[in-house]
Amino acid sequence: MDISTNYLGKHFENPFILASAPPTANAEMIKRAFEAGWAGAVIKTLIQEPVKNLQNRFATYKMGKKIIGFENIELLSELTPEEWYKDIQKLKKDFPHKIVVGSIMGDAKNKNQWVEMALGCQDAGVDFLELNFSCPHGYPAKGKGAAIGQDPEYSAMITLWLKEDSRIKVPIIPKMTPAITNISSIGEAVANAGADGICAVNTFPVIMGFNLRTLKPKPDVGGYTTAGGMSGASLKPVALRCVNDLVENPGLPVMACGGISSGFDAVEFMLLGAPVVQVCTEVMLKGYSIISKMKKEVSRFMEWHGYSSIKEFIGLGTGLTTQYSELDQDFKVTPSVDPVKCNGCQVCFVSCRDGGYQAIKMKEHLAVIIEDRCSGCSLCFQVCPQDAIQMVEN
Ligand SMILES: Cc1cc2nc3c(=O)[nH]c(=O)nc-3n(C[C@H](O)[C@H](O)[C@H](O)COP(=O)(O)O)c2cc1C
Repeated sequence: MDISTNYLGKHFENPFILASAPPTANAEMIKRAFEAGWAGAVIKTLIQEPVKNLQNRFATYKMGKKIIGFENIELLSELTPEEWYKDIQKLKKDFPHKIVVGSIMGDAKNKNQWVEMALGCQDAGVDFLELNFSCPHGYPAKGKGAAIGQDPEYSAMITLWLKEDSRIKVPIIPKMTPAITNISSIGEAVANAGADGICAVNTFPVIMGFNLRTLKPKPDVGGYTTAGGMSGASLKPVALRCVNDLVENPGLPVMACGGISSGFDAVEFMLLGAPVVQVCTEVMLKGYSIISKMKKEVSRFMEWHGYSSIKEFIGLGTGLTTQYSELDQDFKVTPSVDPVKCNGCQVCFVSCRDGGYQAIKMKEHLAVIIEDRCSGCSLCFQVCPQDAIQMVEN
């Protein structure tokens, strides 16, 4: 099964690259990731000011024991740009077929910083350059990171600084924040300034909560906390919406990122038009070796549908999302209960009684739909723990 892909004219041996984050903190780590099978990596974002990270900078959102959201208040790379340039050179020499993406953040008012780091990464040999317009903690208060990515003028101005400099040839990919009402407004601004592609998305700012026994906030930094960026599974639907909006407008090629935990998650982003996906949190939780399973899952999806290459299904889902007003207002479905699978647990009955239309009754330990009360909302189907309810199109 050929799962190789292409982004802005570069060949990727598979659609999976590491996002800019702790798994790409240095060249030794990236080397191990490449050996495990990752097609590429975005280096941890470079910044010219020294970085000193806080301790206790992570927190998690769990359902039972499963981590479904991950918060961080981590800053950017602890290595200097000069250290990175040497490491990038070595990585590209040792792994010429892997994709290495630079990532930089400068001051919103300092053109030189952006240009210097862009040239440094380009000369070291990166294939693409991400502009970090999206870190939601620490930097926005200094007018950087997500503060830039929430402002179309600044996003366009910085993109233009790099695109109008004739020395800079490396494709420029601004990385978007999901924490904005109209992400296409930023997409359009950077597209008009000449951006070659877009990466969507970075983390979403959250407060993770409190430990109710100690009354300490999470993460607890000396008794206090601050809003941090959420990544991981909970971010996936937000990221899908952002990618959907950006593919529609401005339509630049998108590298997708956010909550990708499996090959099947990746396929959903590909259906929306992203030929490459980036992964961070799942690697932080499970290690580089998850790449093998992710690649197999993409192949399995392709087998189900008889695809022999990835380009056969990239973008196939784009026509399937539309405006609310365009949806068929007369579309009708009715729940159908499978009497073999239904075990009479009453979950659907209670949900429909207290959150729906009182359209389910229990009869001899089976859920029975009262069709003339049912509005076809699908709540019973969503909550059924036995997979015993299907919504059948009328
Ligand atoms: C601990 C941590 C540090 C991160 N550092 C950076 C960074 O330096 N630059 C950047 O562009 N994104 C950074 N990110 C964001 C990730 O690159 C990615 O956009 C985000 O985590 C969503 O992907 P995921 O759900 O697969 O983790 C960081 C994320 C985490 C969890």
